[in-house]
Amino acid sequence: MRKLLVTGGAGFIGGNFIHYWLREHPEDRLVVLDALTYAGNLATIDGAEATGRMRFVHGDITDAALVAGLLSEEDIDTIVHFAAESHVDRSIVEPGTFVRTNVVGTQVLIDAARAAWRTSVGTWRPSVRFHHVSTDEVYGSLSPSDPPFTEQTPYTPSSPYAASKAASDHLVRAYSHTYGLPVSISNCSNNYGPYQFPEKLIPLMIVNALRGIALPIYGDGRQVRDWLFVEDHCMAIDRIVQADVQGRTFNVGGRAEHENIHIVHQLCQLIDERFAADASLATHNRAAPVVDARNVDVVVVAGLRGPGTMHLRVERPIRDVEALDSVDER
Ligand SMILES: NC(=O)c1ccc[n+]([C@@H]2O[C@H](COP(=O)([O-])OP(=O)(O)OC[C@H]3O[C@@H](n4cnc5c(N)ncnc54)[C@H](O)[C@@H]3O)[C@@H](O)[C@H]2O)c1
Repeated sequence: MRKLLVTGGAGFIGGNFIHYWLREHPEDRLVVLDALTYAGNLATIDGAEATGRMRFVHGDITDAALVAGLLSEEDIDTIVHFAAESHVDRSIVEPGTFVRTNVVGTQVLIDAARAAWRTSVGTWRPSVRFHHVSTDEVYGSLSPSDPPFTEQTPYTPSSPYAASKAASDHLVRAYSHTYGLPVSISNCSNNYGPYQFPEKLIPLMIVNALRGIALPIYGDGRQVRDWLFVEDHCMAIDRIVQADVQGRTFNVGGRAEHENIHIVHQLCQLIDERFAADASLATHNRAAPVVDARNVDVVVVAGLRGPGTMHLRVERPIRDVEALDSVDER
């Protein structure tokens, strides 16, 4: 039985991870630490506390006393660290917030783990693990002819967000080398799935398309990203945390590389097809209230599992629009 501290558990991936872990590990207990920034939404983990196996703590990962207290009073043996400022555009406007949360916050957490898990004889408590969730954006960007990133690709972050995540990766690795702290790191590609805040590409495009407003696309939209269904990501973290892989880094991807513009066209096509199939939806949609940006749980993009495929389906995009059919892109 594990006792997990999950940081950022009210966010997009963290929230999916909470549901995943409660379902897959019925013996385990979870403590969620989340500051509930604009990106956090308690509704994402609705029902989790009612299981009696999850406790939600509203707090900041940079609060060293709070973190140390939680590790001790909850007897935490596993930390899965999602909490971060995660939006590239915001990092360009306010890089300091990204350094504070992503770099300082990570250092506070690993330091607290080091103090809590060190035994009096200088060894580590058995079965402890600090798992750090990071991004493939630390490797820079890919052009259409480039090979995929590997764990050996040099770090070349190109935004304050990516640089802050790169710094946090280096810190976690340094704690492994310097102190031997049992850590693991995963660098994943773009996630998609339920509960994503509509500032990220897929939910933003769906919300804007349904509201009939412009779809903002960077440059020519030909930037290539790999897309990973969020639940596949949760499963990958599960396997890493359970395996004997201290000190190692894993790239996690969906083997579904697409240009951004392709994703946007695909979404538009799905929405068009749905409206073409039932013209009355357009009437319902116009009558629907404007989507509240905090009301993210009504915008759901679901995918089906499987490497090499990317299945997009829009479920309940606005409360009057029914589910769209799934599409296999390959
Ligand atoms: N979403 C992606 O496609 C993607 C891709 C690669 C890596 N990642 C990484 O995965 C992790 C989770 O990403 P996400 O998309 O779920 O992020 P998100 O922005 O949806 O959620 C972040 C969560 O962290 C919380 N948080 C922010 N600052 C905090 C602080 N100081 N203390 C405590 N909680 C705080 C927020 O309230 C929110 O609940 C991040 O570390 C991100 O870098 C995400």
